[in-house]
Amino acid sequence: MKNKIFPDLLLLALLFLSVTGSAQNDKPIIVDVDKPLSTIQPTMWGIFFEDINFGADGGLYSEMVKNRSFEFYKPLEGWTVDVAGNASSYFVIHNREEEKPGNPRFARVILEYGVNRLSLTNDGFRGMGIKQKNKYYFSLLASSHEKSDIKLRIEILGHDGESIGETTIVPKGNEWKKYSATLTAAKTDTTGSLRIWFEGSGTMDIDMLSLFPADTWKNRPNGLRADLVRLLADIKPGFIRFPGGCIVEGYNLGLRYQWKKTIGDVDTRETIINRWNTEFEHRLTPDYYQSFGLGFYEYFQLAEDIGAEPLPVLNCGMACQFNSAEVAEIDEIDPYIQDALDLVEFANGTPDSKWGKVRAQMGHPEPFNLKYLGIGNEQWGPQYFERYALFEKAIKEKYPEIRLVSGTGPSPDGDLFDYAREALKGLHPYVVDEHYYRSPLWFRDNATRYDRYDRKGYKVFAGEYAAQSKYTGSPENQNTWECALSEAAFMTGLERNADVVFMCSYAPLFANIDAWQWTPDLIWFNNLTSFGTPNYYVQKMFSTNRGSSVLNMTLNNAPLTGQNGIYATAAIDNDSNEIILKLVNTGQKAQPVDIVFKSSEKLGALAKMEVLKSEDLNSVNSPEQPTLISPVDTEIALKGKNLSRVLAGYSFSVIRIKVSK
Ligand code: AHR
Repeated sequence: MKNKIFPDLLLLALLFLSVTGSAQNDKPIIVDVDKPLSTIQPTMWGIFFEDINFGADGGLYSEMVKNRSFEFYKPLEGWTVDVAGNASSYFVIHNREEEKPGNPRFARVILEYGVNRLSLTNDGFRGMGIKQKNKYYFSLLASSHEKSDIKLRIEILGHDGESIGETTIVPKGNEWKKYSATLTAAKTDTTGSLRIWFEGSGTMDIDMLSLFPADTWKNRPNGLRADLVRLLADIKPGFIRFPGGCIVEGYNLGLRYQWKKTIGDVDTRETIINRWNTEFEHRLTPDYYQSFGLGFYEYFQLAEDIGAEPLPVLNCGMACQFNSAEVAEIDEIDPYIQDALDLVEFANGTPDSKWGKVRAQMGHPEPFNLKYLGIGNEQWGPQYFERYALFEKAIKEKYPEIRLVSGTGPSPDGDLFDYAREALKGLHPYVVDEHYYRSPLWFRDNATRYDRYDRKGYKVFAGEYAAQSKYTGSPENQNTWECALSEAAFMTGLERNADVVFMCSYAPLFANIDAWQWTPDLIWFNNLTSFGTPNYYVQKMFSTNRGSSVLNMTLNNAPLTGQNGIYATAAIDNDSNEIILKLVNTGQKAQPVDIVFKSSEKLGALAKMEVLKSEDLNSVNSPEQPTLISPVDTEIALKGKNLSRVLAGYSFSVIRIKVSK
């Protein structure tokens, strides 16, 4: 494995070079500071969120109760009912489909004939993460029938069933009402649960049984997990693409993502099966649904919170082509296009417009300033481009300022990709989404991919990419250092071609350690903790060191695209007046580099350097060693306008040098 990147002969050559002197044949690398090249878009490095791997429910969305409104295919999935006597007589599920199509089911508790105690236990998403001394908000909708004196006693339980927090609620009246109470946890537990005791006699209807930690992101009710949002905010992403991914397409059109069903009161948002529930035979997850508690309003709010441009992706009248491949007929496409037009109004319209009013009523009278809109996810073939063209025409007519994103299908090459490139010639998307889930070697070899792109052709959105340590879809893929290092090498190629590449995002973003379907993923978490992979740190180092314009950086008049295993780019940051170098050494050996800056200005004598490295290409971060591979900061010295460094083997370095004005 050690020699995986370099074959033996090359290693020998490297060894020779490192003994005899510089691996760059004693020629310096030249960085031309005085003549900045293309602008690097503020959107260059972003993130892509999809509800896969329990990314939303059981992940970013803080709700701790699974199947809170009994809407899963099995209404009691996640719940255990315990009652003296015959349980089915005392706990039943009702359906009011016509009256409340978004949330048809509720449960009825009947305590009579000598039964005066019944309990309902929810085991959360592979347990509930409970933190000692933290407050938890329990709530439910309840309607207490006449003469009922049923009281609710609510407990948080540790993994061993011990009660570690308790409160009570006494619902009154037969109107549906929301009741809430606070619990404080006496202990920490990663696999806790929630138990609700019904005591007394009578009949009570219940729905939307919910438990949230108080310490959500910005302490918002119905909020997001603060540790996970923090990890996203720390990347300082230029944009956030949401909500998918294949989830946008759905297994069939009936199960596609429909943004209008994800806004408004949470108890009216229709729960549907998650497309990833059944996707992989080897990772079946029958308890994976979408409650849409994290819906489009919350996505826009998240984008605003972390300073990222929102980039929603909408269904274009096509279900996932890997699944049912259903398409809406062309003469039935109008409602899909209308959804897109209405979304722009929801995000940007004034509070007196139809959809702007809904946004204002939800608490955000100011617009969300939507600028980008994705039409379809990973669609391919003539059916896609036919439909995309209709969206483009309608949206450009009404909202010419909206920048559209089209796709090219699932692969960065091959027939489908070639077809897409031709079809796109008659269309006008702002950027075109390319996806690559390939080997680490592919990533290193493709650092020059965009050097060859037509400068007059389309602009690229590298919307989904991740090096696969085994193969795409393999459950054995890991976020190894080799994958992350190879992505860093590839990303220097994206940056060098910033005149063609406008947006980039790794995929997928999140994975629940106990409930994932797809690996590798950028951030892993369980119910209490989370950590970034080496790939996360690569993304973060690129994004937080973006720069404003590319600088010409050459060795022997050629860009650094893998000579002796070194990949590198340079940028200038106009805000901080700093030169930013990104240097990737994919070789096992340390490599000396000499850099000469052609600059009419003085350079700072000390530079900041951030290094991510590991001697072992197979190493990974883990819950036990969450920061095993993480950046280390140092200061380094320049000699006038020269910098000499030895780049550690298998390392990625970012160097920032002040330019005096
Ligand atoms: O990122 C996982 C999946 O890969 C996405 O849902 C899809 O767009 C791609 O096939």
